[in-house]
Amino acid sequence: MTHTFKDLAIFLKKKGFIYPSSEIYGGLAGLYDYGHLGTLLKHNFENVWRDYFLNLNDNSFELETAQIMHHNVFRASGHLANFADPVVKCSACEFTERADHFVEKTTKQRTEGFNPEQLNHLIEKHKLACPQCKKTLAPVTSMNMMFPLNMGVGSTTTAYLRPETAQSPYVNFKLQYELQRKKLPLGLALIGKAFRNEISPRNLTLRQREFTQAELQLFFNPHLVDEHPEFEKVKKYKLRVLLEEDRKKNAVVERTPDELHKKGLPKFYLYHLVKIQQFYFDVFNIPPERFRLYQLDDSEKAFYNKYHFDLEIDLHEHGFTEVGGLHYRTDHDLGGHEKVSKQSMEIFDEESGKRFIPHVLELSFGVDRNVYSLLDLNYHDDKERGNIVLSLPQNVTPFVCGVFPLLKNKEELVALATNIFATLRPHVKCFYDEAASIGRRYARADEMGTKYGITIDFDSLNDQCVTIRDRDSTKQERVPIIKLREFLQKEI
Ligand code: GAP
Repeated sequence: MTHTFKDLAIFLKKKGFIYPSSEIYGGLAGLYDYGHLGTLLKHNFENVWRDYFLNLNDNSFELETAQIMHHNVFRASGHLANFADPVVKCSACEFTERADHFVEKTTKQRTEGFNPEQLNHLIEKHKLACPQCKKTLAPVTSMNMMFPLNMGVGSTTTAYLRPETAQSPYVNFKLQYELQRKKLPLGLALIGKAFRNEISPRNLTLRQREFTQAELQLFFNPHLVDEHPEFEKVKKYKLRVLLEEDRKKNAVVERTPDELHKKGLPKFYLYHLVKIQQFYFDVFNIPPERFRLYQLDDSEKAFYNKYHFDLEIDLHEHGFTEVGGLHYRTDHDLGGHEKVSKQSMEIFDEESGKRFIPHVLELSFGVDRNVYSLLDLNYHDDKERGNIVLSLPQNVTPFVCGVFPLLKNKEELVALATNIFATLRPHVKCFYDEAASIGRRYARADEMGTKYGITIDFDSLNDQCVTIRDRDSTKQERVPIIKLREFLQKEI
């Protein structure tokens, strides 16, 4: 039997992964804290993301920037005018919900990108009423999702908490381009917080009001959008895509970049689509059938995109859920910043001898949704063992191994175990645990996602070997202490 969303939420709080923020005051909708294990897992995910995406190109760099930004940034980007969601309210009671989600849930018709008129039309057509008091619904309106802030004492300066990390690299572009010897493509990555006043925050960290994004903005020469030096190497790779034209069948079809190129998608875009799918398959072992690249149509695409595929993972209870996107934003943002700031964003590209505003390909990931997905897909309620097993990949799991003396009141065992722990600790993510029976400690380790349990028993004092227990198979093997580090590093 598969688990429910509720099972997972209870488990994540109990073990110290994720729980509501300010909970002793009743919490606040859409805000969550990561506990000791959740923080380790999230940081590990961010480090793996950094290693992978910053190394796709030898001219990519990471930035750390302010989260509160000038209001003109969002005039230029279009967020002040366009970054709004439709709201439906009851005319009689307190009921309020995001209108497209409400209509989609009740009519089972996909409504992504629908405007208030289209939603009002569907509400009338299906005679939808308030789900709480059954009275009439008020007409759908739209609400800007940014959080404004009043800066300074008695000041009237309005600034905004950024709704996406992306705008920071855009306003930094010109300076960074000069500093990085005027070379394209230039990658500017940012892992940081984004803030959105979501109308209906829900489902733990899947829809929050404050969340973390990991985004890479690739600034490139638009005349070279149909080129990538590595395209030949990836052109036969099988991408799991759900194209607009395959929607009716609701079928994911494996298509190669070569095929998709013939359908009009440019090579620079396709190369990165491959790298993204490989990130999920090769780095995190996501089962292929649980992953798809979902092409958005013109009415669904974000307002700044020319090409837009969502990266989706099939979660228990929720089904396919967007965890990121590959966005071809053209010169939408730099062009907007040029107009509003009156500073030229044009560059002279020495290699091509051309003058232009660079275009942007954005590789966008929601860190919290990705971390949630890893937890959801790797959570197993093992009835035989009588505990949860979190089979997280070793590159993200909070701890790769736990070190356990068989008995805590046997000085020689504790001395050897603490010694082994001290030797391993600088090299492998590990913890030491001597509390409760060894079976209980294995169960605790399984629930933390720890891949190996290392037990020091009485034989260890004589043969200088330890027992290593594997989380997934529960198989045990004896390994000489002297070879322990080598064993673990090889396994990792
Ligand atoms: N810079 C592009 C951008 O922000 P987006 O599709 O709006 O695009 C990117 O957001 C990713 O951020 C999403 O794919 C999702 O993983 C994550 N995300 C968006 N809204 C979120 C929310 N309210 N809570 C948690 N994650 C969210």
